[in-house]
Amino acid sequence: MERTHTRPTGPRTAVVWAVLREEIDRHGSGMVVVDVGGGTGGFAVPLAEAGHYVTVVDASPDALAALTRRAAEAGVADRVAALQGDGDRLAGLVPEGGADLVLCHSLLEVVDDPAEVVAALAATLRPGGALSLLVANRAAAVLSRAMNGHLAAAAALLSDPDGRTGPGDKLRRRFDATGAAALLTAVGLTVEKIHGVRVVADLVPGSVADGDPDALLAFETAAADLAPYRDIATQLHLYARKA
Ligand SMILES: C[S@@+](CC[C@H](N)C(=O)[O-])C[C@H]1O[C@@H](n2cnc3c(N)ncnc32)[C@H](O)[C@@H]1O
Repeated sequence: MERTHTRPTGPRTAVVWAVLREEIDRHGSGMVVVDVGGGTGGFAVPLAEAGHYVTVVDASPDALAALTRRAAEAGVADRVAALQGDGDRLAGLVPEGGADLVLCHSLLEVVDDPAEVVAALAATLRPGGALSLLVANRAAAVLSRAMNGHLAAAAALLSDPDGRTGPGDKLRRRFDATGAAALLTAVGLTVEKIHGVRVVADLVPGSVADGDPDALLAFETAAADLAPYRDIATQLHLYARKA
């Protein structure tokens, strides 16, 4: 019997899982999933627990070792493959046209060439397959810096073409919904949904997040696809399909 109730549903990931759940419900078990930059398996392992076959491509051997341990502990080692590789060189690492679902969460911010990576992600999908893309939102970074009094960093983020605070920024770029969607449509994908992830979860006092997580979750769910709230979320989640 597959374990299907283990997906995390906290405010940091619930909106993404709600979208993925629709795909899972549509497809049933046995999806072929590729998680590029999938790290230690925060999405991969629950997907495998739900009966799907997940290949995680990641540059970090340490992350992949943790993934392998986590998959074994969850009893799904046979449905999780760990593949060390560079997201910028995805073509040739995973087969083209075979995946039902490709995840690329928190990776486009650090790769050499996001347009090339997105082209490779699209090539990995079978016709009808879906891409789940999660990227850092420039607007949220501007607001959080400004609210914390770091006005020079906020101003730099506003005007920098890549949405960086400067050379010390750990990210190479940040996105807005229009720019991220344009990357996907440029490679022939149809953007079906755009949600904000962590609209207020990183802004509310910790006492609220800890004291009433259900209320926070309900708020995040309600605000996730409503402009302008979506547009100030810490991350943007785009869900796109290959024709
Ligand atoms: C912020 S973590 C995100 C992990 C996971 N996708 C998630 O959302 O929980 C970024 C991951 O991307 C990996 N990574 C960074 N640069 C990469 C690259 N060029 N190619 C493949 N993986 C990369 C890191 O090792 C790390 O595991």
